[in-house]
Amino acid sequence: MKKLKLNDVELAYREEGSGQPIIFLHAFPLNRTMWDDQVATFSSTHRVITFDWRGFGASSLGVTGSSLTVFADDLAELLNLLEIKRAILCGLSMGGYVAFAFYRKYADRVSAMILCDTRATADTEEGIKARFEMVNMVRQQGIPAITEKMVPRLLGETTLQTKPQIIEKVKQMIQAAQPEGIARALIGMAQRPDSTELLSKITCPTLVVVGNEDKLTPPSDAQTMNSAIGLSQLRIVNNAGHLPNLEEPLAFNRAIHELINLV
Ligand code: MLT
Repeated sequence: MKKLKLNDVELAYREEGSGQPIIFLHAFPLNRTMWDDQVATFSSTHRVITFDWRGFGASSLGVTGSSLTVFADDLAELLNLLEIKRAILCGLSMGGYVAFAFYRKYADRVSAMILCDTRATADTEEGIKARFEMVNMVRQQGIPAITEKMVPRLLGETTLQTKPQIIEKVKQMIQAAQPEGIARALIGMAQRPDSTELLSKITCPTLVVVGNEDKLTPPSDAQTMNSAIGLSQLRIVNNAGHLPNLEEPLAFNRAIHELINLV
């Protein structure tokens, strides 16, 4: 793991392999290690970069507020410092929300997009209320309460019943986050704009991937995005919930392989 100072933060990142860059954007409230299987697989053919958003994993919190545009600007600056002009972006859930924010500002830097277990719509009023309840929860009760709430939501029933090592890995990632990092990301997600209009403006090759057991962003969200994006394909990963890259890495990697062979 290496660190780079940029904007008002120090971001922890990992870089392996060489060739066309693929940048993996992690979900809330996890960190770059959720992509370990993908780093191992794709670094034999690509330059693979994973990193922790501000306030997560080993990255610092920074002083700036919590808009997801700040996350997108961190990503742009990371690419500048690593001298990467264009990359394939793979974002899962919150990583997908940031991929939309990034595409809005820096479309010419994206050669292809992989949108996993995410959605283009903004939060509903009820969703925003639930986010702020979680902000209070993490500020008052800390990470254990968030871990207990998030683990059953993130993982599919198959994983919850049969893969204790994945449950443990997810818990460890949540425990590595900073409570205020979690609070700020929740506020950022609550305030994110609707990206539905953006979908028809996405002109790069795109892959939409979703776990068939995803409870947070179900396959219907993926189908909607896939229909609205011009050059898009949809892959559904069986026996996986919201984190198919961790729950069913072979099937997930196979889907990504098909897209990156097109780029
Ligand atoms: C994520 O996995 O990044 C989050 O669950 C997304 C969300 O809460 O909307």
